[in-house]
Amino acid sequence: MGEAIEDQQVPPSPIPGQGRIERPPTKVGWHIASVYRCGLLDAEPVNRAIDAAFRMLDEQDFNRRSHFVEDRFENVYLDLSHMPALIPVMDQAIACASLILERPSEALRFGFWFNAMAPGQSTSLHTHEEDDELLSVVYYVTAARDSGDLLLYDGPATVRIRPEAGTFLFFPPDLPHAVETNRSQEPRLSIGINIGPR
Ligand SMILES: [Fe+2]
Repeated sequence: MGEAIEDQQVPPSPIPGQGRIERPPTKVGWHIASVYRCGLLDAEPVNRAIDAAFRMLDEQDFNRRSHFVEDRFENVYLDLSHMPALIPVMDQAIACASLILERPSEALRFGFWFNAMAPGQSTSLHTHEEDDELLSVVYYVTAARDSGDLLLYDGPATVRIRPEAGTFLFFPPDLPHAVETNRSQEPRLSIGINIGPR
């Protein structure tokens, strides 16, 4: 079960892949070969804008919904043009992915979707492998305390990562993962991104 990459162009400004890298992506943990973390500078206003824009959306704004599990679509898709507030996030995702993959950002394309988990909801076990993805990403827009840790299943090891708003995690597309139940009182909003070759 995976996510197809939709070939979307970042609008001309800012320059695709020219995200403001404060620090290069860093490896997370010693027991997993290739999970990286990276941050977004000045993430707070960006996240506020995305969260506000997401709350304004209605069903017609989504061009696709998938992974219907326990009464909700875990993944909802829309065009980047519907939400310009996402541009800095996609720009930074490509910039970090370019460093991790050691490929020029112009050689990468991406697709994305939202995962909005209300209190009491979780995300079922899945991978992002489908086609020719090189790298998968999650970016946290809102992640209150106890809103659900990310669980990565790497062979015998289960790696638990607490979500942090304003950060990206990069992992192999075929790595199975799930999200624990949101036990906070707040919605937990994340963006899944698949990156592939252009
Ligand atoms: Fe995922």
